[in-house]
Amino acid sequence: MELSRPQCEKWRLCSRPTYTWQRLLHLVFLLYTVSGQIRYSVPEEMKKGSLIGNVAQDLGIDLQRLRSGRARIVTGESIQYAELKADKGILVVNERIDREQLCGDVTPCSLSFEIILENPIELHRVIVEILDVNDNAPTFKNNVITLEISESAAVGSHFDLESAFDPDVGVNNLHNYVLSTNNNFVLKQHSNADGIKFAEIILQKPLDRELDPQLSLKLIAVDGGTPQRSGTVNIDITVLDANDNAPVFNQSMYKATVTENAPIGTYITTVNASDADSGSNGLVTYSFSNLMGHSANVFQIDSVSGKIYVADNIDFEKDKKYELRVGAKDHGGLTDASKVIIEVTDVNDNAPVINVMSFSSPVSEHVPVGSTIAVIYVKDSDSEKNGQIKCLIDTKLPFKIQSSLTNYYNLLSDIAFDRETVPEYNVTITATDSGSPPLSSTTTLHLKISDVNDNAPLFTKSTYVAYITENNTPGVSIFSVSAQDYDWNQNARISYLLEDTQVNGSPVSTYLSINSDTGVVHAVRTFDYEQIKELQLAVKAQDGGSPPLSSNVSVKILIQDQNDNAPQVLYPVQTGGSLVAEIVPRSAEVGYLVTKVVAVDVDSGQNAWLSYKLQKATDRALFEVGLQNGEIRTIRQVTDKDTVKQRLTVVVEDNGHPSRSATVIVNVAVADSFPEVLSEFTDFTQDKEYNDNLTFFLVLALAVVSFLFITCLVVIISVKIYRWRQSRILYQSNLPVIPYYPPRYSDTLGTGTLPHVYNYEVCRTTDSRKSDCKFGRAGSQNVLIMDPSSTGTMQRIQSDKSILDELDSPLEVSFVYVFTTSMRRCEIMKL
Ligand SMILES: *[C@@H]1O[C@H](CO)[C@@H](O)[C@H](O)[C@H]1NC(C)=O
Ligand SMILES: *[C@@H]1O[C@H](CO)[C@@H](O)[C@H](O)[C@H]1NC(C)=O
Repeated sequence: MELSRPQCEKWRLCSRPTYTWQRLLHLVFLLYTVSGQIRYSVPEEMKKGSLIGNVAQDLGIDLQRLRSGRARIVTGESIQYAELKADKGILVVNERIDREQLCGDVTPCSLSFEIILENPIELHRVIVEILDVNDNAPTFKNNVITLEISESAAVGSHFDLESAFDPDVGVNNLHNYVLSTNNNFVLKQHSNADGIKFAEIILQKPLDRELDPQLSLKLIAVDGGTPQRSGTVNIDITVLDANDNAPVFNQSMYKATVTENAPIGTYITTVNASDADSGSNGLVTYSFSNLMGHSANVFQIDSVSGKIYVADNIDFEKDKKYELRVGAKDHGGLTDASKVIIEVTDVNDNAPVINVMSFSSPVSEHVPVGSTIAVIYVKDSDSEKNGQIKCLIDTKLPFKIQSSLTNYYNLLSDIAFDRETVPEYNVTITATDSGSPPLSSTTTLHLKISDVNDNAPLFTKSTYVAYITENNTPGVSIFSVSAQDYDWNQNARISYLLEDTQVNGSPVSTYLSINSDTGVVHAVRTFDYEQIKELQLAVKAQDGGSPPLSSNVSVKILIQDQNDNAPQVLYPVQTGGSLVAEIVPRSAEVGYLVTKVVAVDVDSGQNAWLSYKLQKATDRALFEVGLQNGEIRTIRQVTDKDTVKQRLTVVVEDNGHPSRSATVIVNVAVADSFPEVLSEFTDFTQDKEYNDNLTFFLVLALAVVSFLFITCLVVIISVKIYRWRQSRILYQSNLPVIPYYPPRYSDTLGTGTLPHVYNYEVCRTTDSRKSDCKFGRAGSQNVLIMDPSSTGTMQRIQSDKSILDELDSPLEVSFVYVFTTSMRRCEIMKL
């Protein structure tokens, strides 16, 4: 094979650019010594000393010449690959020949040098063609190819791979690529225009990071040499995540419970959704969806952890159950939803509530036992045991509580009320639920008992006794009664009334009046003890109820005596008209009873206790007056020297304070015969006219006395009949009838009746000459005065003992004097 010069030179230039001067020298020799050229082919990488070719033979030079010509190799190369064995005339390998080092990818690759001989100079060119040996496997620059492919990469996507390099040439060069078996990729090979082969992989089946996040392939590059050599590179494919998976809750529904009133922040439950994606595509955030109204704020969810907490007050009474929609969302926007059912468990947090539906107050104290006083409605918002209620009241109270309808209770009376004992009740109702701990509430009903007029007024005393002194002023208050009524208000408003009774035949109201409000009893008139000593009456107290109730009390009013009556001398009768004298015989012994002064006092008690005293006497030594009995006796023998006419003034005094008295003049004649007396008394009167007519008047007096006696008898009989009749009436009417006669009563003869009380008139004259009468008034200052100058005759009737006996017991007066109408005319008789 001939190597063309330009080729060779070009090669030399290219391959040995550094040794220019050697090349020049070599060219010089070539110019004139070139005579032959031989060519050898040897494979590369022969061992040192391996035969390249038999030069001597091929050039046709014998060994002698070679020796003599001192044949040697000249070359411009720094490395002498071949050595000439001159003695054998062969070329052997001197240095390791690496084709790839020598020529790179240039083919064919040859090595040329000259063998030079001297004497004569001969120059022979030897070209050694280096034959390629498959001594290099294809290699990849890196031993790993890393690819990152999104799992969402479309089918058909191309991914270039790094090419392998094989320095061998020709068939020994890279032949093709082989891809390890896999599911997703196929290999496609290309050749560039310059012959470089490269490979790419094409996605045939979608990747799934969730299935195979990492793929490991092998790419094998093989050459065409024999034996074949290959190089391998790992292809590490990282499948990049795509958000192709939505989050998925691990439960389609979550159930949880929470106690009501759980504090804010209380953990309830956790929801969990998983996302197969990785990275942000697999990050799930949680949230509630579709929360509306109140429940929107009750719970909160941790968006990262999915924990659900209490966020607001939970009230079982408002919501017993919450149904929440919870959503999970990854960062790629894919979502899932689930349901959380939270049941609230009841806590006994509601006390029962008591409502008084109806309550009547006040109630009458006469409502029947068992009456409904109030209706109560009790409610507890809690449920079950926490809402079961019991109602109680204080057992000491006279009430019962009964359940009627569910949650309704009736408060009933358990006794008959008595407002007067307990006027009001405070009924405290306690409602307790059955929770643990139980809660309770109370309400108090203030029940008033209204009054019924069921109590009559009660007098503070069962009987009243009051005293009033006679001669009171009309209208004076005597005493007061008082009654009490235990009822209330109008039912206890008491009016006092006098029961309509008769006192001495006239209505009690003519004696007394009562203040209907205060119960003070007033005298209507002036009382006279001498006429009426006591009043028996009944006072009624009546309340203002409807119908009214009343009660009465008996009242006794005792009239007390006052010393308002002076003693009255009954005997000797003191009249202006007549003069009476007691005759004492001169033979009278010591202690001879001359007469007896008889006086009465219509007062009673001490006021009627009389004593007699001798005030004046003609001869004090002759007479004495019995202090108690008023008897006038002689205290010494009467002598002849004693004057006929003796005049004694006796004072009758009662024992009252102040005491009252009366005086009486007793004429005593000390004489043995009537004429003596008469003459003496005629002298005494010193009236001649009377003396002339003495006899006539004596006769007249006798007649009058007789007449009076008969009249007296008639009167007494009349009185007896009257009293008998009165007692009959008294017996029938059963009423105490005290006949009353005014003090000045005197007209006895006209009626023919004489009351059993004494009745007297004092008639006196201030002037004996005038026939003019003045009547002393009873009850007024009533001292009986006998005027010593009056010389008028007096008629008297001394009641005899039998009459006195007739006028018995209730009468305090022992004498009755009856004055005739003629006496009232006070006829003056002249002696
Ligand atoms: C009832 O209660 C009222 C007010 O609390 C009180 O004034 C009254 O005295 C009480 N009555 C009874 C009978 O306890
Ligand atoms: C009170 O009055 C009643 C009837 O009016 C009568 O029966 C009773 O005796 C009276 N009592 C007195 C103490 O007067």
